[in-house]
Parts: sequence; structure tokens; C-alpha cells
Amino acid sequence: MPSQDQTVYPVTETSKRSTRVNAERYSEMYRLSVEEPDAFWRQEAARLDWMTPFTQVEDTSWDKDDLHIRWFADGTLNASANCIDRHLPERANDTAIIWEGDDPAASSKITYGELHDHVCRLANGLKSLGVKKGDRVTIYMPMIPEAAYAMLACARIGAVHSVVFGGFSPEALAGRINDCASDIVITADEGMRGGRATPLKANVDRAMQHAPGVRQVIVVKRTGGKMKWDPARDVWYHDLIARQPATCPPEPMNAEDPLFILYTSGSTGQPKGVLHTTGGYLVWAAMTHEYVFDYKPGEIYWCTADVGWVTGHTYILYGPLANGATTLMFEGIPTWPGPDRFWQVVDKHQVNIFYTAPTAIRALMREGDGPVQGTSRASLRLLGSVGEPINPEAWTWYHRVVGDGRCPIVDTWWQTETGGVMISPLPGATDLKPGSATKPVFGIMPALVSNEGEPLPDTGAAEGNLIIQRSWPGQARTIYGDHQRFIDTYFATYPGAYFTGDGARRDEDGYWWITGRVDDVLNVSGHRLGTAEIESALVAHTDVAEAAVVGYPHDIKGQGIYCYVTLNAGIIPTEESAQMLRQWVRQEIGPIATPDLVQFAPGLPKTRSGKIMRRILRKIAENEFGNLGDTSTLADPSVVEDLIENRKNR
Ligand code: PRX
Repeated sequence: MPSQDQTVYPVTETSKRSTRVNAERYSEMYRLSVEEPDAFWRQEAARLDWMTPFTQVEDTSWDKDDLHIRWFADGTLNASANCIDRHLPERANDTAIIWEGDDPAASSKITYGELHDHVCRLANGLKSLGVKKGDRVTIYMPMIPEAAYAMLACARIGAVHSVVFGGFSPEALAGRINDCASDIVITADEGMRGGRATPLKANVDRAMQHAPGVRQVIVVKRTGGKMKWDPARDVWYHDLIARQPATCPPEPMNAEDPLFILYTSGSTGQPKGVLHTTGGYLVWAAMTHEYVFDYKPGEIYWCTADVGWVTGHTYILYGPLANGATTLMFEGIPTWPGPDRFWQVVDKHQVNIFYTAPTAIRALMREGDGPVQGTSRASLRLLGSVGEPINPEAWTWYHRVVGDGRCPIVDTWWQTETGGVMISPLPGATDLKPGSATKPVFGIMPALVSNEGEPLPDTGAAEGNLIIQRSWPGQARTIYGDHQRFIDTYFATYPGAYFTGDGARRDEDGYWWITGRVDDVLNVSGHRLGTAEIESALVAHTDVAEAAVVGYPHDIKGQGIYCYVTLNAGIIPTEESAQMLRQWVRQEIGPIATPDLVQFAPGLPKTRSGKIMRRILRKIAENEFGNLGDTSTLADPSVVEDLIENRKNR
């Protein structure tokens, strides 16, 4: 959790000179964006190419009985044409994507002209398989350019992509394929990370046992590794595109037609398919990418996320490409072949803007300053952080060592559901405080409410639950196939407002400090995981009677996964069974969900009505059992003593 560092880092002279948005301009634009949103968004939306211009800007209601969110609704456009075709007259020979392979000797550059051809060939290939506008296509890929081609090819023909992170298990993949009834999967034989191959196609094969609706699997040859082949179902990517023309007219899409579904974890149940539409999302992605990173033509921009997460969607692909930027796509990991890999890549490709997650910063900070200082990094101008609260120590190290004290840091707070950055400094406008996401982006009206739902004062210092008071173009429109869950999750807790699930503090200068999730969602190494998902994986094991999962502070990961498990009668808990359950969850969900600590418990603390008191479990996991609060409502208070006695985090 960010502590209260009082140091202020003023806007640098360089940023002041070079930026389009200084402090005065930020205030002016922010005022316009909230006082005259229609005029503001009309102008911002003009950054895109519209096939049919919109006449109406916003039509939204957050009333739970009539919830709808529509922006630019009578306009038509195509996201892939906006990311590619409109740059061709001026930039056909400019680099769109720099690909840096896992192997430091492997890299390539793809120009906008080449990107156009690749995307069109695949778009035609998909059409030849019968993929139509509105169909869902699942993409389960390593970080290779074909992942970008696949997303843009879907967008080009109006198919809705659902990218599933390559680290998810076959079971998790099958669940996501079935939820959106997707009948095409695009994958690769294997993915490479840190010198090791991940058997993606073999995972797809296993997923197919639970996803009978898939009729075709398109396979990119990445490593040439061995795999099974079903000639009736599997088709090589290179064969599919071989005979396809390199032009494909972009499908005119209504601004509110779906662009993609992305599964993310909630506090209950299985992951939900967050749905983003075309016009508003792309306006938001392009606008925030330009202002937050103060992007200027010709700069090299690198976001280290995976395309399997929303950060990859908005800030590797859609935002940068809509702005005609050069975006770097990295296949590997920060620590391979050595802990200086990031900085080697920065020097190799002369990266100007670098955007990563606190967990990576903390892991690299642990390696000391040496690996960083052995590199130049003179090309860097701006640093970014995303995914979880950044502790001031990590912020300061990032600023002092990585940025040589010269580069501002934009700490960007946002979510899968928000489509793009919501609270963040703008480098030329905002003085920085380590650990604070600082100020809202244009059009965003954050506010605080108490646990009881009372609004907290909107000026001065306050702390509570973070809500957003008004719609913005990049907002998710629904949960695929479950609009009621969308309403219940985000708009029912505080009627009339969007509930973020995060807690926050606003200081006396109006700076926002995100304190972390206030619901049962964990943030493990910047990856969002529902405690309910891990619990349901645990109880799916035949030895497990009951399980409760909570987070606890972890030096590198931000939060670690702490599991309390009650085994079935007669089963003796051992170190081996703990290890076996860790493996089990890893297999059920994926390596990112591997439990850190497993504590066997004869019983869990429950109220007399049978509800597990997670508050107590969290305290014990945090090793702060001195102050457990009121335990008098417990059905059996003695279980608490056993839990404390056998706690795993000491
Ligand atoms: O708790 C917040 C945290 O990540 C959550 C959203 O996770 P996800 O949808 O996976 O999107 C991650 C990438 C945008 C938020 O509810 N979070 C994200 N960025 C920050 C953050 N917490 C603090 N500071 C941030 N900059």
C-alpha cells in the first residue's frame, strides 16, 4: 500500500517546453470536458476517421431499471481502418510494430504498409472459413505479431475478438470459449518465454474436450515443436493466408457494435466477459494514449504488458496504432537472459516511452542498480506504471535509477472495465507525488463514498470507496450474455454511480491515491484474480471439503494468495498435500493463480448463519491477529485460535 510520501516532483522544464498540455491547458480542457461534454467529445472524436459521421454524442443512463451506455451511436467506423489504412498515405513505410523476440537475437519491424497486408490476408482467410460480422473469435497466442494481426483482422471484418492470456490453463480457456460461444480459435504451436516453450496448441487440444462448439483452430508456426493435428479441425495460419488477397475492405461498424470481449475476474463467480464497443473505446484509447504519454509522431513507445490483458489491448495495440505510433511488442520476460533485459531492449530500439507494472519494477529493484546502470537509457523520456498501487520506494527507484532522475512517471489508474486510463498525471501538466495516480483524465469525475453509501465531501482530504459519477466513451457496455450482472456489479451498490471496487484517498491538494481493492478481488503481480475462482478450483478437488482464499501483502507480487482449506474427513493434511493443492490450482486456472500459502484448517470462522468471516481470515493472513475485531458472532470462536496457532505467514 502506498505510504504517505510527501515529496513532490515538479513538472520538468523539458516536459513544460515540449508538451501540448501544460497545467493551465489541463485545467481548461478538464473544465470543458465536464461542463460542456458534448462540445468536448465532438472535438475529441474527430481524431478518428468516421465512415458515417455521428450526429449524437452521448446517450447514457445509469439508472438500474434502464441502464444503457451509448456514445456517438449513429456514427459508423472501422477500428482496423483507423489503426492502419488512414496512416497509409503518409506512413506506409514507417514502422508500426517493432517485435522483440524472447531470444535477444530475434527482432523484426513491421511497417504500416506490411501491417495492412498481413491483416487483410488474415481477414480474408477468416472470411473463407465462414467468419462473419458479430461472430466471436478466441485468440490464445504468444506475444508475436500474428496476435496483433489476429485482433485487427477480426476488427476489420466485424468479428468480436476474445483474447485469452496464453498463461491460462486449458480449463480456463474452455470456459471462456464456451461462455461467448466462439467457434474459431487462433493459436500457435508453442510460445517462448524466458527460453522455455509453452505448449499452447496442446493446451487448446485439451480445452477442445470441453469446448465441442469449436469448428476450426488456426495455428501459427512459432517454434515448429511437435503437436497433435486434427486435419478436420486444425489449419495452419500460413496455409490459410497463402492464397488470400492483400486487400480486404473494412466492414462499416456502428459505433456501438462490439469490438471485443475480455474476460476478467470479479468478486463472485467465474470471470465475466467485459464487452467494449467500437467508437467510444477507440476514441478513449487514442485520446488517453496521446495525452497521458504525451505521444509525438516518430517516438518509439513500449508497453510491456501481454496482449492477453486490457493493457495490451489499449496500449500495445489500439491506442498507439490509432495514433500512428511505433509500438514495441516484447515476447520475453524482464529477467531473461539477464536482469538487464528491459534496458537492453530500450537501448537496442531507442525507446522513448516505457510503460510497465510495479511488480516488474520491484523484482528488478531487488537485483540492484548494477544491471540498469550498465545500460545507457538515454533515449527514455517518460516512464509509466500500471496495474496495482506502486509503493513510493519502487516509484523512487524507477525515477532515480531507471529514469536517471530525468523522466517523469505517469502512474495510471484504470481497469478492464474502463477501457483506458482514468486517473493519471499528464507529464507536462501535473507535479508528481510518488504513489499517487494524481488527477482525473478529461471527462472523468471521481468521488468517494463511505461503506454505508454516504457521499463524502468532494473537496479536501477524504478516504473511502472510489466511484465515478458520469459516463465516459471508453466505458464497458455490458458483460457478455449477462447484462443484469453488469448492472448488479457496477451500478447497484451506489445508485447513479459506477462503482470501481477500489478504495481511494484524496489528499488536501486533490491528488488521488488508490489504496487497492475493497472487494474479494486479488491483485497478484498486477494480475486480477477472484478469490471465488480459486476457491472453486480448490473445492473441485476430491479431498477438499471447504476453502476460503484471501490476499496478504507480498514484497514482489503486491498481494500473495493465501488459502485456508478444510479437507474431507479422514484425509490427513501433510506438506505434500499442500504442495499437491498448489499444483492443482495451477493446473485448473494457470500459473498466475498458484497459491503462495496453504493452511489446513479443521474449521473456518463462520457466523451462526454459516457465512465465512473473511475479515478474520484476512487479518490472520496478514499476520495481524492482535486486532481481530468482534468475534462474538462466530458460531465457534475456538476455530480462530487454531487458525492463529497454525498460521503460515510469520
Ligand atoms: O485495483 C486496481 C488495480 O487494478 C485493478 C484493475 O485490474 P485490471 O482490470 O486487470 O486492469 C489492470 C490494468 C489497467 C484496479 O481496480 N490498478 C490498476 N492500475 C492501478 C491500480 N491500482 C493502483 N494504481 C494503479 N495505477
